[in-house]
Amino acid sequence: MILGICGSGRKEGNTGALVEEVLKQTGSETELVWLIDLNVGYCTGCMRCTFEGNCWQQDGMTELYKKMIDSEAIVIGSPCYYGDVSGLVKSMMDRSIALGYMGIGKESETPMHGRKPLADKPAAVVSAVAGHGVERALETMERFVSYNEMKLVGKFGAVAGMQDVREHANIMTEAGELGARIKEMLR
Ligand SMILES: Cc1cc2nc3c(=O)[nH]c(=O)nc-3n(C[C@H](O)[C@H](O)[C@H](O)COP(=O)(O)O)c2cc1C
Repeated sequence: MILGICGSGRKEGNTGALVEEVLKQTGSETELVWLIDLNVGYCTGCMRCTFEGNCWQQDGMTELYKKMIDSEAIVIGSPCYYGDVSGLVKSMMDRSIALGYMGIGKESETPMHGRKPLADKPAAVVSAVAGHGVERALETMERFVSYNEMKLVGKFGAVAGMQDVREHANIMTEAGELGARIKEMLR
């Protein structure tokens, strides 16, 4: 299963359309998760996960951790907010710190960084933006991908003003190409 994680609150919006197109072009079984539906709490920085092996918060992340680990590849999409990712995506990334302490995956080469259960999984990152700031949003998600030692398949920032990306064939084609690259990588 290829997992899409969308951090926009607008289900008819541009970020979701991009993630859906990437997933579609993988030609695989896919699942799209909307972080807005998961009620993801903030990471409190307590570090209990490092010795308890899981996050103390029982919320939508509990199920998402499993899906992330079980997936063959992950596509993360965020709208660009103030030149960066949305709070939903940032919370998902922060809470994912617990993945390193669940006792699965290869040991990190960096001391204190736990294990890397997502290592070597292909990952793509996409962001929708009206005008400016998408580079940083993509960079933030890329950093998450590299911290988790996933393989970055590609990134795409769609600049669409206040328009619908579905009306821009070139944007949808570029998003789809990321999906095709994931398909190729999984062959
Ligand atoms: C809180 C907030 C912050 C935003 N910040 C930016 C920004 O820094 N640069 C920009 O060009 N557009 C910005 N936008 C516009 C969105 O990036 C744009 O409308 C995007 O397509 C929204 O994605 P969605 O359709 O998936 O909701 C912002 C919108 C919101 C709601």
